[in-house]
Amino acid sequence: MAAVVEVSGLRKQYGRTVAVADVSFEVEAGEIFGLLGPNGSGKTTTVECLQGLRRADAGRLRVLRLDPASEAMKLRRLVGSQLQDSALPDRLRVGEALELFATISPGGPPWRQLLQEWGLADQRDTAFANLSGGQRQRLFVALALVSNPRLVVLDEMTTGLDPAARRVAWDLVSAVRDRGATVVLVTHFMDEAQRLCDRLAVLSRGSVLAKGTAAELIAAHQSETVVRFTAPPDVDLSYLSALADVRHIERDGDQTTVRGGGPLLARVAHALVERGIEPADLAAHTPTLEDAYLSLTGDPNPDGTS
Ligand SMILES: Nc1ncnc2c1ncn2[C@@H]1O[C@H](COP(=O)(O)OP(=O)(O)O)[C@@H](O)[C@H]1O
Ligand SMILES: [Mg+2]
Repeated sequence: MAAVVEVSGLRKQYGRTVAVADVSFEVEAGEIFGLLGPNGSGKTTTVECLQGLRRADAGRLRVLRLDPASEAMKLRRLVGSQLQDSALPDRLRVGEALELFATISPGGPPWRQLLQEWGLADQRDTAFANLSGGQRQRLFVALALVSNPRLVVLDEMTTGLDPAARRVAWDLVSAVRDRGATVVLVTHFMDEAQRLCDRLAVLSRGSVLAKGTAAELIAAHQSETVVRFTAPPDVDLSYLSALADVRHIERDGDQTTVRGGGPLLARVAHALVERGIEPADLAAHTPTLEDAYLSLTGDPNPDGTS
């Protein structure tokens, strides 16, 4: 079966700014595929080209077997999209917007159901101008789903949502996929990507740095486990460096940090307990997608604003 999205050698410049230098990836049917990367890495430009909203300078694009450049109108009926920085007329009410979109693209779930699911029932008669940032964000996602699209593109869907609303949004995105849609999710939240995405591509400066499942990216780019515990500074811990797969030990006052691979926590715990040391705070930090991302991009502040 053909991939739902095929991107090969995508390139897009704005004047002399190279927004996308060379991006290739495929999204299979039923996946939640993540595009992750620092601000300005070309994520939004990539998904805009995919939807035929911008014309690529080079590369091959196929979305649901259509060419976004020449078949954008056909594509529009099959793709639901929540764009970064969207807007609606100020005076349009939430219920009116959903009803309008449902009339234009019939066939989806009843719009009143989307109103409920996305926590907007109380805002049904609120004008767009009077919605909070989080409410606008939820409205745009609800509007993207109104046509029951086969592909859903969500660009920074949870930016501006509070933690509780983000969790609700995650469950709904999973539900959208479970109903049979394919999802392309642009995000700069590592926890969101790790939790939601089946596979993802990490972008930097318009190119793909790495692709794979979160577990693959972590294994390939951040294999180190870190174990920390408290022990008096004068206690001898030199035997820890002889343990299998231990790469580095650091002592700072009563804080000890052991870095390495393998079942590090079990090995360190065993060695300590054998010598009568039982630190109550012994704990392992298992590498996350954020660690892998940081080692890939060198970006100390991934939670930027776009
Ligand atoms: N309409 C535009 N005109 C000129 N430059 C743009 C435009 N849109 C984006 N850019 C530039 O292209 C680069 C990639 O932007 P964008 O695709 O929005 O990245 P991201 O979504 O990853 O933050 C950035 O340097 C940005 O400033
Ligand atoms: Mg963007």
